[in-house]
Amino acid sequence: MVVGKPLSRIEGREKVTGAAVYAVEALVPGAAYGVIVQSTIAKGTVTDLDTSAVMAAPGVIAVLTPDNMPKVTEGFSGDSRAPLSDSSLVFAGQHLAVVVADTLEHAQYAASLVRVVAAEESPTVSMTDERVSDTLTVSDGEEVPEARRGDVASALNQPGLTIVSATYHTPVETHNPMEPSATVAAWDGDDKLTVWDSTQGVSRTRDALAKAFGLDPDNVRVFCPHVGGGFGCKGEQWHHKFLAAAAARLAGRPVRLALTRQQMFTSCGHRPETEQAMTLAAGDDGKLVAVRHASIVQSSSTNTHIERCGMGTSRVLYATPNLGVTHVLREVDLAPPTWMRAPGEAPGSFALESAMDELAIALKMDPVELRLINHADSFPEDGRPWSTKHLKECYRIGAERFRWSRREPNMRAPDGRAIGWGMATASYPAWRWSGTARIRLSLGEDGRLVAVSSAASQDLGTGTWTIGVQMTADLLGLTADQVTFEIGDSGLPRSGLSGGSATAAGLAHSLGAACNELKRLLLSHAEDTPVHGLRPNETVFTGGRLVAADDASRSVQVAELLARIPSRIAEGMNNPDAPLETGDVDYGGLRDKYAFSSFGAHFVEVLIGDPVPTVTVSRVVSVVDIGRVVNLKTARSQVAGGVVMGIGMALMEETRYDRRTGRPVNDNLADYAMCVNSDVPQIDVAFIDEPDYLFNPIGCRGVGEIGITGVAAAIANAVFHATGRRIRDLPITLDKLL
Ligand code: MOS
Repeated sequence: MVVGKPLSRIEGREKVTGAAVYAVEALVPGAAYGVIVQSTIAKGTVTDLDTSAVMAAPGVIAVLTPDNMPKVTEGFSGDSRAPLSDSSLVFAGQHLAVVVADTLEHAQYAASLVRVVAAEESPTVSMTDERVSDTLTVSDGEEVPEARRGDVASALNQPGLTIVSATYHTPVETHNPMEPSATVAAWDGDDKLTVWDSTQGVSRTRDALAKAFGLDPDNVRVFCPHVGGGFGCKGEQWHHKFLAAAAARLAGRPVRLALTRQQMFTSCGHRPETEQAMTLAAGDDGKLVAVRHASIVQSSSTNTHIERCGMGTSRVLYATPNLGVTHVLREVDLAPPTWMRAPGEAPGSFALESAMDELAIALKMDPVELRLINHADSFPEDGRPWSTKHLKECYRIGAERFRWSRREPNMRAPDGRAIGWGMATASYPAWRWSGTARIRLSLGEDGRLVAVSSAASQDLGTGTWTIGVQMTADLLGLTADQVTFEIGDSGLPRSGLSGGSATAAGLAHSLGAACNELKRLLLSHAEDTPVHGLRPNETVFTGGRLVAADDASRSVQVAELLARIPSRIAEGMNNPDAPLETGDVDYGGLRDKYAFSSFGAHFVEVLIGDPVPTVTVSRVVSVVDIGRVVNLKTARSQVAGGVVMGIGMALMEETRYDRRTGRPVNDNLADYAMCVNSDVPQIDVAFIDEPDYLFNPIGCRGVGEIGITGVAAAIANAVFHATGRRIRDLPITLDKLL
């Protein structure tokens, strides 16, 4: 078995030696440099875009403006307006032009010469500004979701309830992957486009560019061997991809276009601001009688994203007979928000899991106990069984490892600092987008079996290159060194987006299906062998043999079957026509019968400075149930990374805007505070590691996002335990504790 092993990343050496090539570094001869010119005005109308000085500047090759931008009507997403399509300004940072020059420095200088004249209006940057009104739809018409069970209002009138009502606020946060988004575009004639793009989905980006420029998808190739972090900001088809391609066509040569760190704050989304009004009511026994979770979330006029704070949290986490989950949107004059690691669940779990702590305190009950009492044994909405669920073990193991039973009021560290202990539940739904994969099996020169598996997937830095090898090896009964795994190229079999923590489970499913097709082919050449008559799923590969799953005495050498195939290569590929990104279609009715979700528990210790109340996270124990762990090392890194991001969310991350100009004021890594090593303690990550074979043949669920869910609440709860101060407004900066 290779699955489960803590294999080091197979591309790790390439990365630490700098040999790994990221999008902007693509080895494209003769590439020019594109620099985006952005609006510094948040609201108004462009009356003149004067580029006359630009063309005279040294090294300038072309200037892309709304006048020569090809009309793009499809393919783009994230921002509902087409790139360079409109002279009205709706946010600071809106793209106005692209200057292309022979060097980056020439392009940057020339871009500074673009003169923009605009009629300026005063922007609204705050959701609570009285000029902003509530809406229930985003710009493409999608409505905000809601969920109801029973009748919350009348339930709250029952006598003898303990009721907690409080409003929680989370600010705008910005994804800050190490690698800013970048696109290198090269045309071959007018109808063939090759792109190196930092993307969470090579297949989707390929389809988007093909649609936008009216090309045959087979004539568009997207390469993305490595991604330096995505976290959601590289999932949508943001404008810069189309601008790079249009600029390259205009310039008549390849163009490299990278967003600057500053541009990352306005050009590829952010986590929107939220305000969440929670009401929890429980009887003396701690059983929830009613939960209300009413969210107001930030939106913009060009926004297609809805932050679903209550859907993956209050709707599903606890058994309550009465539930009201609602959302409203408020449009402000800022760049459109988007998905950011556990969109909905990250801010939503801060509100719910803080409120659960407040309820536990009001009930004088241990917070773990309160959660056990309200454990949802089945999917609360419709009673469907969970495919697998081990949340109670997560609480138990987490509490043990943390030594939670020793929790007392007024604990002090040896240096006198107050100690606080807090906990929260983690949860994230399990997804796998439909996709395809191919497996080729043949005999190597040394007579050993070798396999090449491939899919147009991508590795965001999460370990996909490595887990693909492990899953393929296990499906074929091979060792890791017999397997090559290929991703990062849209020319490979179409595969799903790396979003929604769906990559590992999606690949497990499509590699499993490809393996089945491989078996079908081999079995069709097995007439006179002991496995004759068996169906693919009645066999397993073991030690170079194809073996009956329930009778080890029936088997055949795979090499013997390969020799009967004319090419001596056996190839299996699952349904190449499988639709992409449709979520439900690939489950074959399974989701009508079962609910699929991952769960976990975080236990956190904080130390509070005195007299200045700095908050230091000194200990974290996270226990998660993600089904079977494919790679202990990379899975651990995913959870720890989520916790690190959760510490940042709890204590420091906040994008601030100038109220007069609508521009972000801390759009750089010096002023936008995020966790650095000294902010992060040892993080003890443990897994339940029980397979979920209903989900895919490997038994794994995703692990990208669950790590951040609940962390901010666990920290806020620990801060309360230490200080008696309930901070409901993130981030918990020390001024709020003074
Ligand atoms: Mo991730 S926020 O689902 O791209």
